[in-house]
Amino acid sequence: MKSYQIAVVPGDGIGKEIIPAGIRVLNRVAELNNFKLEYTHFPWGAEHYRETGEFMPVNGLEQLRPFDAIYFGAIGHPGVDDTLPAIRFTFRVRKGFQQYINYRPVRMIPGVPGPLRNTRPEDVDFVILRENTEGEFSEVGNLVNPDSPYGSAFQISIFTRQGIERIAHYAFQHARERRGLVTNVTKSNTLIHSLLFWDKVVEEVHEAYPDVKYEKMYVDNASANFVLRPQHFDVIITTNMIGDILSDLGAAIMGSLGLGPSGNINPEKKYPSMFEPIHGSAPDIAGKGIANPVSAIWSGAYLLKHLGENQAARCIEDSIFRVFKTGIFPPDLGGSATTTQMTTAIMNALT
Ligand code: NAI
Ligand code: MG
Repeated sequence: MKSYQIAVVPGDGIGKEIIPAGIRVLNRVAELNNFKLEYTHFPWGAEHYRETGEFMPVNGLEQLRPFDAIYFGAIGHPGVDDTLPAIRFTFRVRKGFQQYINYRPVRMIPGVPGPLRNTRPEDVDFVILRENTEGEFSEVGNLVNPDSPYGSAFQISIFTRQGIERIAHYAFQHARERRGLVTNVTKSNTLIHSLLFWDKVVEEVHEAYPDVKYEKMYVDNASANFVLRPQHFDVIITTNMIGDILSDLGAAIMGSLGLGPSGNINPEKKYPSMFEPIHGSAPDIAGKGIANPVSAIWSGAYLLKHLGENQAARCIEDSIFRVFKTGIFPPDLGGSATTTQMTTAIMNALT
C-alpha cells in the first residue's frame, strides 16, 4: 500500500484544534482510498518559544526536508512579540523550501450564508496565486533614530526577475487548466519601480502563452470587484502582501476566514510543500472547541492533490459541500456546531 510521510506542525491557538480535526478526516479518506498517511508531530510555534526560547530548532528545515508534505495550523500567541512568528517560522519554511506559489482558492459553497446578496455561489470559483518568497515581505529595512522627532523607518521590497518569472509561468500554465484568464493584480501606477517591473516581467512571460487571456487590474479596483463581481475572476497573480490581504477578503466573500484553505507550493517538488489555513491562530476563540475546521480539512484536500491523490482530495471537497447543504454550520457561519461535530459530519459524509 502506498504510504506518505507527513510532517505536522499544529502551532498555536486553534491550530491545535483544527489540525487534529483535519487528521481525522485525512485518515478516514486514506482508508477509503487505499493509501496510508504517516505523521510526525512537531510542537513548534509561539508557545514553544515561550517554553524553549525558539520557534523551531536551528536545524528545523533539515528535520522537515525528508517529508512528502507539511501540514501546518497557524502560529502566534498574544503573549509573544507578534513580529517573530513569520520571521522565525513561516517565512523560513516558505523561503527555505522555495514554496514560491501561495495557492489560495476562493470558492463559494452552495448553502453557506455569505455576505454577497446578488452572487450565485456556483459562479464564484477562482484562485489567488500569491508570490510567496519575496516582494514586500523581504525583512530588509531599518529604523533610524526612532525615538527622536526626526525618527524614520524604511522597509525595502525586493522583486527579482527570476522570482516574478517563475510565478508568472505557473499562473499562465494553471490558467490553461481552468477558464484561461490571468488577472495581474498590481499597483504599478504608484509603485512605479517595483510593480512596474513586476508588470513588465509578467507581460513578457505572457508572450509565451498567447492562448491565455491576460489583463492587469489595480488592487483598489480589484478589491471592489471581489465584492461586486467576483464571478469575473479565474486566476489571479499578485504580490506577497497584496495576496495576503486579498485572500482574507476572498475568504470573507466565501462567508468566513474559517473556510479558507491554502498551499505553499514548491512546484518542482525539490522540497516539501506546506498546507495551511489562510487564517491565523485566532486567540479570541482558541480553547473553546468552536473553531471552524473546514479551512484545515480543505487544506488537507490540497495536500492530497499535491501528492497526486486526486480522487481522495475530491472526496473531501464533495463531503464538505454535502455537509453544508444539510445546513450544519459552525458559529462563525451563524450555526452552533462545534469543531468536533463539524469534523464528524464531514467524516460521515465521505464516500
Ligand atoms: P486570525 O486569522 O487568527 O483571526 C481573525 C478573526 O477570524 C478572529 O476573529 C478569529 O476568531 C476568526 N477566525 C479565524 N479562523 C477561524 C476559524 N477557523 N473558525 C472561526 N473563526 C476563525 O487573525 P489575527 O487575529 O489577526 O491574528 C491572530 C494571530 O495569528 C496573530 O498572532 C497573528 O500574527 C497570527 N497569524 C498567523 C498566521 C500564520 O501562522 N500563517 C497567519 C495570520 C495570522
Ligand atoms: Mg494572512
